[in-house]
Amino acid sequence: MLNPDTVKADFPLLGRTVRGGKPLVYLDSGATAQKPQQVIDAELRFYAETNAAVHRGAHQIAEEATEAYETSRDVVAEFVGADAAEIVWTKNATEALNLVAYGFLNASLAAAAAPGSAAAAAVTPEAIQRYALVPGDEIVLSEAEHHANLVPWQQLAQKTGATLRWISVTAQGRLDPETFSVIGERTRILAITHASNVTGAITDVEALVARARKVGAYVVLDACQTAAHMPVDLHALDVDFAAFSAHKMVGPTGVGALYGRHALLEDLPPFLTGGSMVEVVTMETTSFMPPPQRFEAGTQMVAQVVGFAAAVKYLRELGMDQVAAHESQMTQRLLEGISLVPGVRVLGPEDATDRLAVVAFEVDGVHPHDVGQVLDDAGVAVRVGHHCAQPIHRRLGVHASARASAGVYTTAADVDAFIAGLHEVRRFFAAPSDTGGH
Ligand code: ALA
Repeated sequence: MLNPDTVKADFPLLGRTVRGGKPLVYLDSGATAQKPQQVIDAELRFYAETNAAVHRGAHQIAEEATEAYETSRDVVAEFVGADAAEIVWTKNATEALNLVAYGFLNASLAAAAAPGSAAAAAVTPEAIQRYALVPGDEIVLSEAEHHANLVPWQQLAQKTGATLRWISVTAQGRLDPETFSVIGERTRILAITHASNVTGAITDVEALVARARKVGAYVVLDACQTAAHMPVDLHALDVDFAAFSAHKMVGPTGVGALYGRHALLEDLPPFLTGGSMVEVVTMETTSFMPPPQRFEAGTQMVAQVVGFAAAVKYLRELGMDQVAAHESQMTQRLLEGISLVPGVRVLGPEDATDRLAVVAFEVDGVHPHDVGQVLDDAGVAVRVGHHCAQPIHRRLGVHASARASAGVYTTAADVDAFIAGLHEVRRFFAAPSDTGGH
């Protein structure tokens, strides 16, 4: 069984104090995870020993940097059950999702251009056949999407005349199977979260993929919240594209990844263009590299990629089954603890089944920012606001919430400190008649 105290000792930041000497209780891993020394060392070592631009120099350091960059791709691919050629480095998951949406857009623009024009010839016939959208085509999402997996599709729909439809969320914060029927004959894309960053509910991907397959729609999975918290096997999940960010996986900021089935990446038009992704460039035209290089324009974030691989190795050594089992215990402890604080409503499932340790909540009569401030005074870091997911808040009848989210290093003592902080929130904001006033 994973020992969170030993794990925690690997994360230097978690040893610091805040607010006048209080030990930090970090429960904001859903926003970004802290980094173990192993990841920090990997980046530092890269800069100290191997720093060079990849895929371009003829010198030894460039060769070593390229080797490190490509080996990291193998490591990350294996971690998520993919082949290396199916992993594209991006700035973050948001960029990965935009990359796919812009691929569809570029194909749609070419399809709509005058036959024989330069615009029509800008993408391959295969790209047009696979990816061009026309008015009446449908893009299906869910109300649980965070903005990164909503806004790019909304933009794509607006620009192509496609229609955006969505799966609803139940009062318990799960995707409502009754509304899976929005996936229909006109659905071209199903873009869906693997787990909500507000309710922690894990999506029944299998059921959704089965429906999407029946109608020939592509499935795009937002794995931002799951990749660091449970085993994820993208081939087994049978999705077409997936996005995740290193920084939520105890890795560096500034790097994420897009997974795409190889045959699909082959045909997807590029998003960002420039150096490093080209074969032959004339003043008039350019031919592009095969994937994944076609999607990696410009000088790449090699140190972060190396740090990403170090993060994945760290998680792999802990064992993702162990990580999931530990975090499930933290979920249970969070939910049980919260249930004993009067006037606190959890936004999401109240039991730990098919649920991550991401627990958003509201405290009756207290603004989430005030909740956050009292917790912060006690050294407890949580996120407050809408967590980049306004529609699901609206659906659950609130404007905003506070959210505690655990990680691999979260201990029972962290959860208990948070629960004690919640009791303090209640005491602090109790009506004067309850307490005699402050
Ligand atoms: N990073 C955002 C979160 O905190 C989306 O969940």
